[in-house]
Amino acid sequence: MSSVSIRKIRKSFAGLTVLDSVDMEIAPGEFIVILGPSGCGKSTLLNVIAGLDDCDSGQIVIDAVDVSGLEPSQRGLAMVFQSYALFPAMTVRRNLSFGMEVAGTPKATIVQKVDWVAKLLQIEALLDRKPSQLSGGQRQRVAIGRALVRSSSICLFDEPLSNLDAKLRAETRVELKQLHETLKSTMIYVTHDQIEAMTMADRVAVMHKGRVEQFAHPQSIYEKPASLFVAGFVGSPAMNLLEGSLDGTGCFLVGLRSISSSAYPFENPSAGEAVLGIRCEDIGIVEPGSPDSIPAQLAFTELLGADALGWFDCLGKRMSVRLGVDAARSMAKEVGLRFDMAKASFFSAATERRL
Ligand SMILES: Nc1ncnc2c1ncn2[C@@H]1O[C@H](COP(=O)(O)OP(=O)(O)O)[C@@H](O)[C@H]1O
Ligand SMILES: [Mg+2]
Repeated sequence: MSSVSIRKIRKSFAGLTVLDSVDMEIAPGEFIVILGPSGCGKSTLLNVIAGLDDCDSGQIVIDAVDVSGLEPSQRGLAMVFQSYALFPAMTVRRNLSFGMEVAGTPKATIVQKVDWVAKLLQIEALLDRKPSQLSGGQRQRVAIGRALVRSSSICLFDEPLSNLDAKLRAETRVELKQLHETLKSTMIYVTHDQIEAMTMADRVAVMHKGRVEQFAHPQSIYEKPASLFVAGFVGSPAMNLLEGSLDGTGCFLVGLRSISSSAYPFENPSAGEAVLGIRCEDIGIVEPGSPDSIPAQLAFTELLGADALGWFDCLGKRMSVRLGVDAARSMAKEVGLRFDMAKASFFSAATERRL
């Protein structure tokens, strides 16, 4: 197990800033997911950690040693790429052993390691096949196996599941998490898929335009997004957002409506233009005209199997409310919505940071 410190990493391509002072302290054995939309700089950051890309300034420190000037092979990392990058002319066995052969590992050790990883990933029956004779999921296992035989204490993954279909992705997600529990190595995993981030990570770093917006436990990212961007990116359906203003005396004003903000645990109290965020499960349906409720009209419902979503027109917005299936089937057209303000989020309209 190794610690990784990412310190003030900056990187630009032809004048375009791709990494803007990225800082991250990763503890030994942590499973870190770097989550963000396409183009936000995830792969670049991973490549800088691995030494495949230079940075303009900043440091990568592994176990208290500054590795910034070291070649990728000297950093002791294993990496799994999105494209798998298997050698097409080699069998699975050779794909697994090749790196060790080049490194001069004794033959007996190579055999032992290939056996170990083949068993671990259940690819024993595939060892004599070529990559072209494998399914996408099988190739993906071989790519992971090739990283694991290097027995690195740090594994880097760049969207390793994005080429798999939904079912296989869900299965492999669970397997990777179990693998982490077995190997206990430090894992840094890049994805744009928030479900992977929520289910696998000890901590998630949400990236946006080359910056880390929030670095925290998945549940706190979901419950207390640090910025408007995180609020909009994490969670399905997306958090409901309402623009208005805080009057400084415990009320949030949206048009002519006033919503009491007194139950909200402000971390950075302020008055002025703000955005209220509320998740679909934190809204209750009440009789129209009930105290502390806002009138809303049902637009449509979506049955999701275990539960349902109601979509309501409210304060000029289309808002989602999580409902039971029976409630969704018999939902009235005119209702009142009551927000659980203790679980809401407020963001400054100017800075887009959490209040
Ligand atoms: N070699 C390169 N030359 C120029 N621009 C690049 C290069 N690699 C990446 N970029 C740009 O850097 C930004 C971040 O890319 P990348 O790290 O691949 O994003 P992500 O992995 O989050 O999708 C993108 O705008 C991309 O076009
Ligand atoms: Mg990428």
